[in-house]
Amino acid sequence: MARVGLYGVSTQSGHAFLADCLLMGLDVYGYARPSQHGMETVETLVEQGGIYLQRPAGRGEETSRFLPLGQAEVGHDLKRLVDGSDIIILAHPSHYQEDSAGRLKEAGLLEERRVVLVLSPSRTLATPYLWRILGEHYPVVCFQTCPYSCKSTSPGSTYIKRRKNSWIGSVEGEVPREPLAALKRMFPQLLTSRIPATTSLGNIGAVFHPATYLLNYDGILAAAAKNTVFPFYVEGIAGNSRVARVLGEIDQIRLQIARALGISVFGLADDPREEEWAAILKTVPMSAEDSADTPELKHLRAKCLQPIHDSVVSAQHWLAYTYGVARIPGESLGDAIGRTSTYRRRSYPQERYIHEDVPTGLVPLESLADRLSIPHEPITQIIDLYREVTGRDGRRIGRNLEPFDTEYLKRCLQGRLGA
Ligand SMILES: NC(=O)c1ccc[n+]([C@@H]2O[C@H](COP(=O)([O-])OP(=O)(O)OC[C@H]3O[C@@H](n4cnc5c(N)ncnc54)[C@H](OP(=O)(O)O)[C@@H]3O)[C@@H](O)[C@H]2O)c1
Repeated sequence: MARVGLYGVSTQSGHAFLADCLLMGLDVYGYARPSQHGMETVETLVEQGGIYLQRPAGRGEETSRFLPLGQAEVGHDLKRLVDGSDIIILAHPSHYQEDSAGRLKEAGLLEERRVVLVLSPSRTLATPYLWRILGEHYPVVCFQTCPYSCKSTSPGSTYIKRRKNSWIGSVEGEVPREPLAALKRMFPQLLTSRIPATTSLGNIGAVFHPATYLLNYDGILAAAAKNTVFPFYVEGIAGNSRVARVLGEIDQIRLQIARALGISVFGLADDPREEEWAAILKTVPMSAEDSADTPELKHLRAKCLQPIHDSVVSAQHWLAYTYGVARIPGESLGDAIGRTSTYRRRSYPQERYIHEDVPTGLVPLESLADRLSIPHEPITQIIDLYREVTGRDGRRIGRNLEPFDTEYLKRCLQGRLGA
């Protein structure tokens, strides 16, 4: 059985990963940074002897409950994390991934074995940056999205609103067979691809988050001043046609980049491939409530989705296979989001929607579009707006791709670098 390490047990997703590892009875070590929040979290988890898992009422068979740590451990020992893990899941926002890779290297990551790093999620073109630190072809699995919609309102407690039906993990570099098989056993709904574009250009956060946050900025501040929550998706996108239109434009640029690289694409405005899509989705068993799904059903769903596992799909198509929002050909992104039930519950704006998704999403997408001569004005405007609103230069601090030549990036995204 593979030993799983969590880098970031104190984050929201780190809590959810810990809960699921305990549910699965895995040998797990949860590392938290020795920050104030990290220390509070570890202290609470140790004192409680486990984690509280909260689930929405009425969701299948799974009830809210306390999960004891058992043999699992949590702490601040990076060396213990490196030495005792076959897989390390980086469960924190993607703009910290290089920092974490550097720390793991200092703790001995490259010394004996190559521990597989799982980026949850990677956002766009994380791997070339990590390879500059850890060496070309270091084994990395990039999740296209976090497996959970989750919150942690206090240390030691996780609210898993939902587990995603299905998501893609691109396998990059020299990933050994056994840890990859272990990862698939942990997440039977994971679809793997050897084409990094499926996650790098499958970056839905870059589409949904920064433009919605920045174009609704006044509304978000006004809600905060009244101590209320701005309904991010419902009001910020579905109820705001201007924002929904900009998101649709950013989404199409993302798809045009994929097409220019020769990647299979579903949902391009001038070539949506709706019939092919419908034929694939017809075979996929969907259920509205994830917790009712057995591992067998999750695995079957992942298998049926194999034909799209090497594709980049529009945001509407992503909602279809991720959240089971049945595709209506020609439907606008705003309307599709309006029909997504998970966005109606506790969806609030978070600052990482700009501080993460501009530098690791819009900035590399802008650079790629530029290099491929694809017009990218809507993306450029949002990056510029980020600087106006926050004073931060996203292009300077972000993944501007300056260290890499275009041919290398193309081969990287197409999965042609060779191991
Ligand atoms: N949560 C969700 O429902 C959800 C859904 C979809 C996608 N995602 C994606 O999943 C990823 C993780 O999300 P999240 O909700 O787990 O993040 P989060 O909890 O909102 O992130 C905050 C955490 O980041 C940690 N952090 C700060 N600086 C760091 C550094 N230099 N290195 C490592 N960690 C650092 C902090 O750790 P300390 O505790 O030490 O302060 C803090 O706990 C993000 O990419 C997010 O966009 C999350």
